[in-house]
Amino acid sequence: FSNRLRHVESMSLHPSGAGRIPHLNAVILGEPLESEENDLVLPSQEFSSQALVSSTEQYRNMYEKSIEDPAGFWSEIASQFYWKEKWNPEVYTENIDVRKGTVKFEWFKGGRTNISYNALDRTIEAGNGGKVAIYWEGNDLGDDGRLTYAELLEKVCQLANYLKHVGVRKGDAVIIYLPMLTELPIAMLACARIGAVHSVVFAGFSSESLSQRIIDCKPKAVITCNAVRRGSKPIHLKEIVDSALRESVKNGVTVDLCLTFENKSAMKREDTKWQDGRDVWWQDVVPLFPTKCDVEWVDAEDPLFLLYTSGSTGKPKGVLHTTGGYMAYTATTFKYAFDYKPSDVYWCTADCGWITGHSYVTYGPLLNSATIVVFEGYVTRYQRKSLRVLGSVGEPINPSAWRWFYNVVGDSRCPISDTWWQTETGGFMITPLPGAWPQKPGSATFPFFGVQPVIVDEKGNEIEGECSGYLCIKNSWPGAFRTLYGDHERYETTYFKPFAGYYFTGDGCSRWVFWDKDGYIWLTGRVDDVINVSGHRIGTAEVESALVSHPQCAEAAVVGVDHEIKGQGIYAFVTLVEGVPYSEELRKSLISVVRNQIGAFAAPDKIHWAPGLPKTRSGKIMRRILRKIASRQLNELGDTSTLADPSVVEQLISLGDC
Ligand code: WT7
Repeated sequence: FSNRLRHVESMSLHPSGAGRIPHLNAVILGEPLESEENDLVLPSQEFSSQALVSSTEQYRNMYEKSIEDPAGFWSEIASQFYWKEKWNPEVYTENIDVRKGTVKFEWFKGGRTNISYNALDRTIEAGNGGKVAIYWEGNDLGDDGRLTYAELLEKVCQLANYLKHVGVRKGDAVIIYLPMLTELPIAMLACARIGAVHSVVFAGFSSESLSQRIIDCKPKAVITCNAVRRGSKPIHLKEIVDSALRESVKNGVTVDLCLTFENKSAMKREDTKWQDGRDVWWQDVVPLFPTKCDVEWVDAEDPLFLLYTSGSTGKPKGVLHTTGGYMAYTATTFKYAFDYKPSDVYWCTADCGWITGHSYVTYGPLLNSATIVVFEGYVTRYQRKSLRVLGSVGEPINPSAWRWFYNVVGDSRCPISDTWWQTETGGFMITPLPGAWPQKPGSATFPFFGVQPVIVDEKGNEIEGECSGYLCIKNSWPGAFRTLYGDHERYETTYFKPFAGYYFTGDGCSRWVFWDKDGYIWLTGRVDDVINVSGHRIGTAEVESALVSHPQCAEAAVVGVDHEIKGQGIYAFVTLVEGVPYSEELRKSLISVVRNQIGAFAAPDKIHWAPGLPKTRSGKIMRRILRKIASRQLNELGDTSTLADPSVVEQLISLGDC
């Protein structure tokens, strides 16, 4: 399939780093760091002339319409989908301002639709049933295949019928803990078809993280597979689920069904541990069910999925997305950001365990009747002639990496869509439209239709022109998350209270007025205690609480540091229980506590022994100082006079390399 590939989205979201291009950093390191961000990179005439949006004027007209008349703009888009009943009467209502009452966004409320129907049945009814929906590639050479839209629908219906048969109903949660097999999007689409709420948990999460999510959303069923191979090593996913389910029972949550796909290339059925009555082989039941399944029509504001993500404090947050607005938004952002053409083959390397895999492996492309690639292993050699658009997401891409991606991967021919967004936003928020304007390496450029980003200062005042500050959004957009599951108060506190009147993204950004009066937007990273490791979002508080659960750890403080390969690395300051000596063995066991409690991707890169931590007199850890120590910017420590015990800092510096 590789010579038919036209889009590659390269991201850092695959387990064991598979999504990262392994040579990327070697190349970057060899290159001089010029101030390349001043360059404008123009799309070719040939590209622009065929693009959906081919000029800044066209973008501006569409953008202005989307801001002046959001109802008109989005209802025209939503009308391209099938609605059993049209929304009524308003297209949307919003209150983004906490001072005016509960924060609430609603789009297309009262409309009845189904996203699975719109992705599959609608495509087939338009005569595209024979079009390939999914090319899949397994771990081994020759372990590959394809599914047409008609075939995909049949598989989705069989699973949907089975789920209904076992009593899964509209509104019930289903946890999906699967690697990137076609069964993963199939399971998502099957849940959506019957109105069940899927919650995909990335298969790199530990059993403790999984059980935390099970306890929170109390699913009717867990869908998993017996094992997955990472390289030559099988990872027994089912055993991870078994222990998560045992832990959930202890917390009063019993799941009656564990539907297990037999992933033959990784593990034989006979070797799989089994609990009769609860565990069922997918292959034994699902194919027995009819290949047609009636659609459950749901309200546009009925929940579609829950996806847990890290925040700066406490336990992971269940980000809740609803149906109608998410459908319109992911379909539209996909279409424009990748300048989608029906003959394209599109490959996004993300895992469905993250939001990118929801919006841009599954829903966005399939709603456009696109052909996608689902891939379990690595690409080693491939032709790139047919590539047309490249994508990037998840962290600021530095200008040198951008250049490498552009020059080497894209042969200096393919525009890059550096898309800025979040689990919470559902879809791209700031993104290049590849044929419409010149790109600047490292900048996500301009807002998507309907999005009004603003930069605010510490006090929450909007700042204009060339400036840096906090990135906020001024209005609702269809793809926005509607709440944190079971905790609307935390939703308001985290996102809408820091700068009243706005949605606060948690990111810093700057704007360069250069070529355009509105200015290019540059994301500069999180300003809260969230770190982004190889595209995996991790809250420092989660890592800290894992570390302090170790009996010999008295206290821990975790900060992010620049990391050549991962973007950010995890740097942990650890204070041991009195009398416990530092040792290599202890360092390893602290790291393994984090692996076991969160997942391997959250393992600290560095443990820094800390006899004490820098705290204010009121006991607050001064992370600003820890960040400087971690990145060895020792002459930029700033004011340390407010510390309860300033000598702690000296001790920390001298112990750095223990
Ligand atoms: C955080 C959201 C959205 C899918 C992947 C991550 C950072 C995301 C970019 C970009 C600079 C980016 C932000 C954001 N981020 N895209 N193009 N340039 N930073 O989703 O796990 O919800 O993380 O990722 O810091 O807040 P997520």
